[in-house]
Amino acid sequence: MTAKNSWWEGAVIYQLMPRSYADGNGDGIGDFQGLTSRLNYLRWLGVEAVWLTPVYPSPLQDGGYDITDFKAIHPELGDLAAFHRFLTAAHEHGMKVILDLVLNHTSHLHPWFQRARWAPKGSTERNVFVWSDDPNRYTEAPVLFRKFEDSNWQWDSVAEQYYLHRFLKHQPDLNYENPWVQEEMLGVLDFWLQKGVDGFRLDAVPFLYESEGTRCEGLPETHDFLKKVRQRVENSGRDVLLLAEAIQPVDEAAPYLADDELHGAFNFALTAHLFAAIASGNCKKLRQCLQDAQTIVPGCRWALPLRNHDELWLGDGHLVPEDVIQSIRSGLPGGHGHWLNWGINRRLAPLLNGDPRANKVLHALLYSLPGMPCLYYGDELGMGDWPGLRDRDPNRTPMAWTSARNGGFSSAPEPLLVLPAITSPGYDYRVVNVEVQKQLPGSLLNWHRRMLTCRRLLPALRLGSFEVLESTHPSVLVYSRCSGSMTVLIAANLSGAGASLQIDLSKWKGSRTREVLWGCEYPVADENWFVYLPSFGFSWWLIGEVEDTDVPSVD
Ligand code: BGC
Repeated sequence: MTAKNSWWEGAVIYQLMPRSYADGNGDGIGDFQGLTSRLNYLRWLGVEAVWLTPVYPSPLQDGGYDITDFKAIHPELGDLAAFHRFLTAAHEHGMKVILDLVLNHTSHLHPWFQRARWAPKGSTERNVFVWSDDPNRYTEAPVLFRKFEDSNWQWDSVAEQYYLHRFLKHQPDLNYENPWVQEEMLGVLDFWLQKGVDGFRLDAVPFLYESEGTRCEGLPETHDFLKKVRQRVENSGRDVLLLAEAIQPVDEAAPYLADDELHGAFNFALTAHLFAAIASGNCKKLRQCLQDAQTIVPGCRWALPLRNHDELWLGDGHLVPEDVIQSIRSGLPGGHGHWLNWGINRRLAPLLNGDPRANKVLHALLYSLPGMPCLYYGDELGMGDWPGLRDRDPNRTPMAWTSARNGGFSSAPEPLLVLPAITSPGYDYRVVNVEVQKQLPGSLLNWHRRMLTCRRLLPALRLGSFEVLESTHPSVLVYSRCSGSMTVLIAANLSGAGASLQIDLSKWKGSRTREVLWGCEYPVADENWFVYLPSFGFSWWLIGEVEDTDVPSVD
């Protein structure tokens, strides 16, 4: 059973790519030394957990998701001692650390794969991966990286067989039918648990097993293995988050959240509906998605991302219907011409045409909906991207810290940087950076910090119950969060035009109402409560009086 009030319930997660965050040794590549020195920023911002994309040795053909050693640190990032120093410092700053755990595949340069190619056909060593003489198996499984691959099978001239790879051909799929694989990968989990990690994002978790005639996603055997993963975590006796990356509709993602399986899962359907709502100015389907997600798995176990290090994955009509995909493609001008595999390859700010109001209203939702809000590094600044870079690199450029050379990310000569710092008009690091925005009271960065402070002061937003309320305006989403004596009412206008509407507050009739961010008084609640929200405007209101015991102290 889920422990009561685990650290991760409703926690604000900050996702970063260590190679692009802060360079401590001046070689142009972000590392643990640099990251450790930036923990004070993350604490100042008010996030509670840091999720690091893969930190393991890798030839980096897929951003580190192609791993050659699961129990070590990529030498460019540091070593296990540097990781330990980082983890200890993060804990001292009151922050949790989540690692990416890539169970589905290795790099083709992993010693297991090299051994498998040369091992006799049918041997245990060969069967660490999924081989076939016929590349026409599992044809219903879509090719995920279709911009780069045209099949899920690759011929290996040494093995004289095809091997399965759901991602790049450089990432052969492990064979979970082989008990050796299961034990080894559970050993990887134990290794990092013993190091003191607080959580794992389970990468590409639906694809562990295959079965003919299916999409090869979320098969019963996959769930059986994930229950073993959960058992290992339980055995550790620690409160450790297991978070599924399953890009599936909520009803298909929900089984990962069985009581004896994983604790959380990203709600990628919700992400798509959020973008569709802002692209079309209509929140009908967003409302439905929210209600479905809460009916299927109530509470705060859905992780809520806007953008991440991948494309904005919309899929082939399976995750969300075609008309939702179309409304995003036609309604977000910043997305035109940036389609990658199954989604739009842009960062948040350019997708929203650089409009900070749109950034704010979407985050105001993330920070007040039930779940774990996930903030992607740089989105708190409205950082831009570099279209034209390889694969998903446009979204993975160095964090902008200051107006100094390389945005203060690194002291290395510019050509040595892991990726170029952003200098495009409107997003130039000399303007869009932490140092400048810290000094401007009205900056996006200070807005994010303020919102996160308010969230901490309003425990109803973290763990409270959730109810979608009727809205008389198609562009405005209205809901309440309640816990103890605290009720917070939220309304958000997802359209570029102002909206006036009536909200039925009869169940709180006669109660005092106050806007949270600015503290101003509103008329007392009644059945015809009237509000106006400007374009992309939102408000959080406190309804009624709150007892002192329900208000936490914030340091
Ligand atoms: C990660 C991607 C990665 C893929 C293969 C994912 O879903 O988020 O960045 O390319 O898994 O590991």
